Amino acid sequence: MDVLEAIEKRRSIRSYTDRPVEKDVLERLVKTAVKAPTGSGMEPWGFVVLQDQKEIDTLSERVKQKVLNNMADYPQFSQYESWLRNEKYHIFNHAGTVLIVYGDCASPWHVYDCSLVAGNIMLAAENEGIGCCWIGFAEALFNDADFKAEHHVPEGYHLVSTLSMGYTKVPVPPCTRKDPVFFSWTK
Ligand SMILES: Cc1cc2nc3c(=O)[nH]c(=O)nc-3n(C[C@H](O)[C@H](O)[C@H](O)COP(=O)(O)O)c2cc1C
Repeated sequence: MDVLEAIEKRRSIRSYTDRPVEKDVLERLVKTAVKAPTGSGMEPWGFVVLQDQKEIDTLSERVKQKVLNNMADYPQFSQYESWLRNEKYHIFNHAGTVLIVYGDCASPWHVYDCSLVAGNIMLAAENEGIGCCWIGFAEALFNDADFKAEHHVPEGYHLVSTLSMGYTKVPVPPCTRKDPVFFSWTK
């Protein structure tokens, strides 16, 4: 699959088969993804992989409860309150793999660099039949000091991206987007 095809086909996938994402496949995806451009050549990324289904399920519940109990702190999630109140809603959509990208704040470019890596992972995953979904809800928990300490994230690293991942069960048709706006185009 060439890169243009992957860009065209990629969608946020929220339904996965039972097949686990194999360690060698995930490592290959990440090793490819870190070929992304990196500000000042600092390569400020580090990763946490969750593949324990019980832990993933528990974390989904913890995120839901934390956001619902502190709604005022999360205005960006207020429009999703009914989802979070739904006991069947699983923030990772029952994915068997959750990949978290942390950025080293010592780099002023860490958010850009790590977002580029996350984008590359999603595109490279497309080639393997692996679907991904960026899970913004996870920000409510994965940046907490105790979560980071538990998962050996060094001091100074900040959460940038959380991806739920799994072999795609229900594909989603290619997306449409609004026409891009060009604020100016000088000649
Ligand atoms: C920063 C960011 C946060 C997102 N957070 C969530 C999320 O918490 N849950 C979810 O189901 N989808 C989430 N998404 C996926 C978007 O809903 C999705 O990208 C958008 O609807 C466009 O659909 P597409 O990715 O299939 O083209 C997030 C996407 C981004 C880029």
